[in-house]
Amino acid sequence: MRKLCDIDDIDPGNGHECAVEGPDGVRHLVLIRHGDDVRAWVNVCPHMGRSLSWAPGEFLFDGEGRLVCPHHGALFETSAGECVEGPCRGASLTPVHIEVRGREVYAAA
Ligand code: FES
Repeated sequence: MRKLCDIDDIDPGNGHECAVEGPDGVRHLVLIRHGDDVRAWVNVCPHMGRSLSWAPGEFLFDGEGRLVCPHHGALFETSAGECVEGPCRGASLTPVHIEVRGREVYAAA
């Protein structure tokens, strides 16, 4: 199990980008925090496969806390990662299994 970050590294208003080595190479992740609850997804939009960050480590959110893809405006709710508005409505981000141990976040093996 590999440590991704400390929970306090995840800005509740911005999310956190990190990378993890997997069997198919490096995967870039986006981590979203609600209090001490952390969700992680592959940092790839299901619409056209582009990064969800508008700059390295920087993510956009709308006024309702939904993650906004900077390319064509898809909106993702951040509990299950479903696109609720935009060109890939109904599709979902790819979840990544993580574990929070104390104040540390780990990628599950
Ligand atoms: S690549 Fe994300 S909405 Fe098009």
